Parts: sequence; C-alpha cells; structure tokens
Amino acid sequence: MLNASLSVAPLSPSAAPQRAAIPGSYGWPVIGPLSDRLQYFWLQGPQNFFAKRMEKYESTVFRTNVPPAFPFFAGVNPNVVALLDVKSFSHLFDAELVDKSNVLVGDFMPSVNYTGGIRVCAYLDTAETKHGQIKDFAKDILRRSASTWVSSMTTTLDAMWDSLESQLAAAGDGGSASYIFPLQEFLFSFLSLTLLGADTSAFPEIKKSGHIMIDKWLAVQLLPTISINVVQPLEEIFLHSFSYPFWLVKSDYQKLANFVENGAGETLARAQTEFKLTKEEAIHNLIFMLGFNAFGGFSLFFLSLLSSLSEQKPGVQEELRKEVREKLSNNILSFETVREMDLVNSFVYETLRLNPPVPQQFGRARKNFDLSSHTTVYEIKKGELLCGFQPLVMRDPKIFENPEEFVYNRFSKKRGGEDCNILKTRSSPEQPSSSYRSKQNPGVVFVVICARWIGISLFRFMTDIGASGGSYSGYDIFN
Ligand code: HEM
Repeated sequence: MLNASLSVAPLSPSAAPQRAAIPGSYGWPVIGPLSDRLQYFWLQGPQNFFAKRMEKYESTVFRTNVPPAFPFFAGVNPNVVALLDVKSFSHLFDAELVDKSNVLVGDFMPSVNYTGGIRVCAYLDTAETKHGQIKDFAKDILRRSASTWVSSMTTTLDAMWDSLESQLAAAGDGGSASYIFPLQEFLFSFLSLTLLGADTSAFPEIKKSGHIMIDKWLAVQLLPTISINVVQPLEEIFLHSFSYPFWLVKSDYQKLANFVENGAGETLARAQTEFKLTKEEAIHNLIFMLGFNAFGGFSLFFLSLLSSLSEQKPGVQEELRKEVREKLSNNILSFETVREMDLVNSFVYETLRLNPPVPQQFGRARKNFDLSSHTTVYEIKKGELLCGFQPLVMRDPKIFENPEEFVYNRFSKKRGGEDCNILKTRSSPEQPSSSYRSKQNPGVVFVVICARWIGISLFRFMTDIGASGGSYSGYDIFN
C-alpha cells in the first residue's frame, strides 16, 4: 500500500499485534444513528467525529454509525467499522477481502436515475464482467488522449487566465476576482476535450453552463452525505433527512447526455466496437467519469491546491517559482519538464495527503477475516461495511513525521523522500494471481500530472499568490 519508504518516522519494532474485540457501538436503534448523524454533520463535523472516537476508544479501528440515517432512509444501514490508520485502511483495497458493489459513498447509494438507469463503473464490484469492460474503456481513453493533454491543457488554461485577468481589470486596483467558476469552466472544457474528444465550443449552452449542470447533478445526488454546516438546524431538517428526486436535474442531465451523444461520436463508437458496451452504457459511464470522477475530484483538489499555495510563506512560493522558471528556461513545457519539477511534485502530493478530495472509502467484507492495525488484530465478519476516513489515515503518526504539518518538500527527492505514491497506492495494483481485478482509480497519473501543470502555470504567470474564500487578489502580473 503506502510506500513505506516515505515514512520519515521509523515504525517501532513493536511486539506481535494482540487480538481484541472491535471497540465502539452502534447505540440504540434509531437513537444511536440519529445521534451520530447530528454529531457528524453538526456538533463535531466529519473529521472531529472520527478523531474524537479514535481518542475515546484509544483505537484506530472502532464501530460507529455514519450518515445518512433516519428518518427517510429506511433501507440504509449506517453501521460501519471505521479504519483510521494506514495499515487497517489498506484492507479496503484488497479485492479478495472486500466487495465494492454499490458502496461508493457507503451503504446509501444515490438512485440509478442519476446515471441513466444503470449502475456505472464506480458502483460495480471487481468480480462483475461489466466492471472489467468499462475499466478497460476508461484506461483506453486516458492512454489515447495522453498525447493531447499538454496542448488541451494549455489552450483551456489560457482561456481561464484571460477570464480572471479581465475580471481583475474590471475590479480595479486592490480588487479581487472569483476563481471558482472560471476554474470549473476550464475543467469542464479540458476534461470534455481529453476524456470525450468533444469540443464544448461547438455546443454554446454546454460551454456556458455545462459545469453548473454538473455541480447541480452532483449536489442533488450527494446531499444526504455532504457536510456543509452553515445553516443548522435547517440543514439537518431539509438536506440530510431524505434523498432528493432526480427530476430536479433531469433536464440538465438530458442535455449532458445529448452533448456526449453528439460530441463524443468517436469515443462512443470505440466503446461499442472494442469494449462491447451498449451505446447507453457508454454515454452514462462517460458522463459519470467526466462529471463525478474527474470534474468532481479535480474541482475539490484544485481548490485545495490553490489555497495551499496561497497559505505558504513568500519564501516557499519563491522557491517553487524559482524551480519552475529554471526548468522552463527554454520555455518548452513537456511531460519531462513537468516530471523534473521535484518541489512542485512534492507540493502536489502533500496537498493530496492533507486534503484528499474523496475523504471516505468503503468496502463490504466478502468473508470473515482478520484485520490488522499497527498494534491489534480484529475479527471482521462477512457482510460488515468498512469505512476508511482518509484525512485521518493520511495523518497516521506511525507513517508521517509531524503528520499535521504541511511540509511542502516532504516528498522531494532532494530532501531524501521518495516520489510519493499516496494517490496511486490507495488501491492495490492488478494482481495476476487474483480472481478479482483492482478498483484502482484509472485517472491517477492523469490527476497528478494535471495538478503539477496547474501549479506550474500559476507560477509562470503570477508573482504573488493570494487566494482566499474563492477569490484571488494581490498578484501583479499576468505575463
Ligand atoms: C482529482 C481527481 C480524482 C480523484 C480525487 C479521484 C479519486 C478516485 C477514488 C478515491 C476512487 C476509488 C473510489 C472507491 O472505489 O472507493 C476513484 C475511482 C475511479 N476513478 Fe478517479 N479520481 C479522480 C480523477 C479521475 C479521472 C480523471 C478519471 C478518468 C477516467 C477517473 C476515473 C475513475 C473511475 C472509472 C473509477 C472507478 C474505478 C473502478 O471502479 O475500478 N478518476 N477515483
């Protein structure tokens, strides 16, 4: 799993792990899940919710409930076994041990109406034939588009900087510009080009509002699981007590499906001829990959990347900028140049470590098995739902020195750290001996390369990064 050589703190040669019963409880029916839900969303917030229980039980593995729960989620079982250290978390990605069907966001699964009436790849278990077909299709898309990532990124990013620049000019001296929507507009165009082979400029309505359509589609299906915590208790009453119906976003979803059908003809044809998918399966899986996996993941990740950059001391920004300028002295941006940027790479990985865009991962035990944390072995029963909460897993003090601290050069080769495989190793690679395929995110390399690119682009164009509350200020040149 996690590359142990990253661990700056040595693992102590401890005694053999002891067996123990899993601490924690699910409480009284209805009251236990409801009370946990209120703590999770309102009184503590997700990270504190897990941290406080870890402290209370003095264990990184324990039983608890996670939302959604009560009153209108009758079929949803909120009971999970939480896994909060790197060692126990790694079991989640052993396909021999866990079944991944329908557990992308927990026992709760948004209606399949949100995905054209079919279960898309991320909801399929690795034992399902369809999973392999769609996964191969996804990998093929990324492989084929790799040669155009650079040019597509450059063109669409330039449009984003232009948009920000004109917003700033309009705001006048000392003004600021909101970067969230320009960033999302860029992401939508860039991902459509690279993943679908579809140019949004040929579809004016989609170009203008495709990113907003995806935002709404994501929000409505995920509301019961998302913590916003700004207008409590209204949020608990109106956002977390029931699931929202698909018809709220039906017409937008149809527009996105038409866009894929008309704009991604070649990709759809390959899905049918080479990967034996039906046209419908291809369309809805493409929307999900584009909107949920890629756009959703990148939107959150880039926002944390920008805020990590803005929080750095000027000296750190200067060091990063210096590396970018030195490596780009001949002004040629290529895969190789991007790979050579040791500090930028480390910065990207450190951002992913502390702010994993997808905080939770779930898996259901296929059979009874022993699960080990760093110190203890627990018995897991077939059918139990395991829930890893990454923001705490990635702060495992047995793996990371000063785990709470953002150390921008933690993974820099110069500093002696190895290239970090945090994102890549969240899922185990394909094992030829296994009867199951892996659930590894096929977009891993793409994600990391794109993130480095964004960082590089920022440092090429800006002299001082100041980002707060979704808006930018305080930089003085745009090339
Ligand atoms: C910052 C961006 C991204 C993040 C944070 C991210 C994260 C993840 C995570 C955590 C999973 C595993 C979910 C689970 O089973 O529990 C996953 C799966 C997946 N991701 Fe990504 N992803 C990103 C970008 C992409 C991109 C660009 C693609 C493009 C094809 C992609 C395609 C997929 C697919 C198809 C799966 C399902 C894999 C399977 O079922 O075997 N992701 N992603």
